[in-house]
Amino acid sequence: MSATVIVGAQWGDEGKGKITDYLAEKADMVVRYQGGNNAGHTVVVKGHEYKLHLIPSGIFYPEKVCVIGNGVVLDLEVLDHELDYLLDQGVKTFNLKVSDRAHLLLPYHRRLDEVDEERKGKNRIGTTRRGIGPAYADKAARVGLRVCDLADPPSFREKLAAALAEKNRILERVYGQPGFEADEIAREAERVYARIRPFVTDTSLVINQAIDAGQKVLFEGAQGTLLDIDLGTYPYVTSSHPIAGGACIGAGVGPTRIDRVVGVMKSYTTRVGDGPFPTELSDDTGEWIRRRGAEYGTTTGRPRRCGWLDLVIVRYAVRTSGIGLLAVTRLDTLGGLDKVKVCTAYRRGNGTVTEFPASLDELAECEPIYEEVDGWPEDLDRLTSFEQLPQSARRYLSLVEDKTRTKIGLVSVGRERTQTLALTTTF
Ligand code: IMP
Repeated sequence: MSATVIVGAQWGDEGKGKITDYLAEKADMVVRYQGGNNAGHTVVVKGHEYKLHLIPSGIFYPEKVCVIGNGVVLDLEVLDHELDYLLDQGVKTFNLKVSDRAHLLLPYHRRLDEVDEERKGKNRIGTTRRGIGPAYADKAARVGLRVCDLADPPSFREKLAAALAEKNRILERVYGQPGFEADEIAREAERVYARIRPFVTDTSLVINQAIDAGQKVLFEGAQGTLLDIDLGTYPYVTSSHPIAGGACIGAGVGPTRIDRVVGVMKSYTTRVGDGPFPTELSDDTGEWIRRRGAEYGTTTGRPRRCGWLDLVIVRYAVRTSGIGLLAVTRLDTLGGLDKVKVCTAYRRGNGTVTEFPASLDELAECEPIYEEVDGWPEDLDRLTSFEQLPQSARRYLSLVEDKTRTKIGLVSVGRERTQTLALTTTF
């Protein structure tokens, strides 16, 4: 199996960073294909916690090539800081590759994201305010600037001036905000570009050559299925394609080159940002999960909304990404509860809904239909094999497999690499 896509099967924050790090041990290359520094991937190596926003989670293995693909929107300042952060911690970054086609996320994108959210008031999306939406909007409107533009500074400055003239008008006239100086933005972008120039390349070529050579490539999705701009809970979504198909576009590989899709799902559901959430627990149990799971955003520190596992969502993720294997994370977090609930369908009016609806109004009317299983003891974190899992936890996992018709390949019972139980020898 040479090319594997890792996708989030819920609303993001499923623990993809940990699973990517675990699978990266046997891979040669790890590729980010969408999103930007709205992502926050936490990886724990030998007790030390690292948080990454742009650089792929494979970076902790010095010999692996880590790629920021063309589908990522790249905030150069953040990349600069992330490189410093990793170097400070003694993590080597010379195996990084950055796509020459990736779009730049510039300071005015951040500002526009902030003022747009403010303007929307109670109708806000609840974005990370990192400028992701405005950067992708410019890409689609064909006024974006790309990494390759920085190879020719005079031409870069010309394109920037044209883009900025429009942005400054919007900022000043619509929002009453100060505009930006093109020279300041260009100088900073040129400075970081000079630093990353050795990494900049046609990454689609690099990835395809690696696959041709029989190397193992992991595509690391950011965010999750329900945040996909086409298939997610629109408009409460991000502006890219976290689903597996996004890997083809965002990395420049054909669908025929992908061998396998692994869906990462938490054993409960969380969401940051606004929008309907059928299994949300606005009670003590929700608060208990949030505290025990330390469910606060890696990027923004916002408390995550918590609720029971929703298998309507996971089934939808399996369908839309062609997930062949599931990785279940945070099984340890639910340890200690008497009973654990799993939503297997929704009730809406007199009917039963088994497929995730498009309309958010419909979703808001959906009441979860739960199956209840016995809980398991608190201390799963010391287990070293699947066979050691208590019967009740195994029944929980069987229910997931039955209702999603998808095999579970990995179960995570803690934050460390070693706290991962493999159920299949294909990894
Ligand atoms: P944006 O990606 O910053 O535009 O935010 C759009 C929506 O996606 C908001 O609901 C965010 O909270 C959510 N979002 C973006 N990135 C992540 C992530 O990495 N994990 C979870 N939610 C995210």
